[in-house]
Amino acid sequence: MSAIIIDGKAISLKVREEVKQRAGALRPKGIVPCLAVILVGEEPASLSYVSAKEKALGEAGMGSRDFRLAFSTTEAELLSLIKRLNADGKVHGILVQLPLPSHISEERVITAIDPRKDVDGFHPVSVGNMVLGRPGFLPCTPHGVLALLRELRIPTAGAHAVVLGRSNIVGKPLANLLARRDVNATVTICHTGTRDLGAITRQADILIAAAGRAGLVTADMVKEGAAVIDVGVNRVADSTARRGYRLRGDVDYAPVAEKAAWITPVPGGVGPMTIAMLLRNVIESAERFAIEQL
Ligand code: GUN
Repeated sequence: MSAIIIDGKAISLKVREEVKQRAGALRPKGIVPCLAVILVGEEPASLSYVSAKEKALGEAGMGSRDFRLAFSTTEAELLSLIKRLNADGKVHGILVQLPLPSHISEERVITAIDPRKDVDGFHPVSVGNMVLGRPGFLPCTPHGVLALLRELRIPTAGAHAVVLGRSNIVGKPLANLLARRDVNATVTICHTGTRDLGAITRQADILIAAAGRAGLVTADMVKEGAAVIDVGVNRVADSTARRGYRLRGDVDYAPVAEKAAWITPVPGGVGPMTIAMLLRNVIESAERFAIEQL
């Protein structure tokens, strides 16, 4: 078998077009959806993610307020900026790019964001709403993965979904969403402490790799005909590449693509969907503010 390559870029463009139309509909009301983007320090991967998010916002007719803060920024300074943005009626979403420098508590920073502006879906209130199945912002990468499965009509009901990774940003929320009634998968979470990983991943009808280790998932760990979703974005040194590194997913792509029925490439798979879902959360927030100010 040779896998269908899931074109996350193309699917994300459809979502971005929809968001652009919705942003256009708010314009006559004098509302420009706006995301505040905060980056502390100059971590290269974070810089590139933040730029991509801001570019996408502009292309969808939305605004961004860009806060590039020095690595030495204190937690108190960051908290005071968030307080100001929480109170700013022209700001509909607040995104603090993670990871933060180790002298700042991510937990305190995320908790300081008004849940109504938490378009990343990381605030404990957003996480609680997600787990309870109540309305609220869903985290962008897990939501993007679900959107891909839905778009490709990959059967999820009764399927065994194995999630490799247990991060707060991807693994934990994704496992939770896959078990929702409307998705109805049977979910197993694996992690660095899992014994005989391959024995479990080989049972997966849907295998989601979000461990952050390049090439961790080899072909012998994949069941014939599985859907393989690669959330990993690893920079691997490569002197022949223009930037001196190459992006690699958590999946050993070529051999796994021979065995799977569907596979996401890296780049061009899940990544673009993360951004599209962020835009969707921002527009939803702006639309709600528009209704509330009537
Ligand atoms: N770092 C890695 N992924 C993300 C994300 O989706 N949002 C934020 N804020 N930081 C991240």
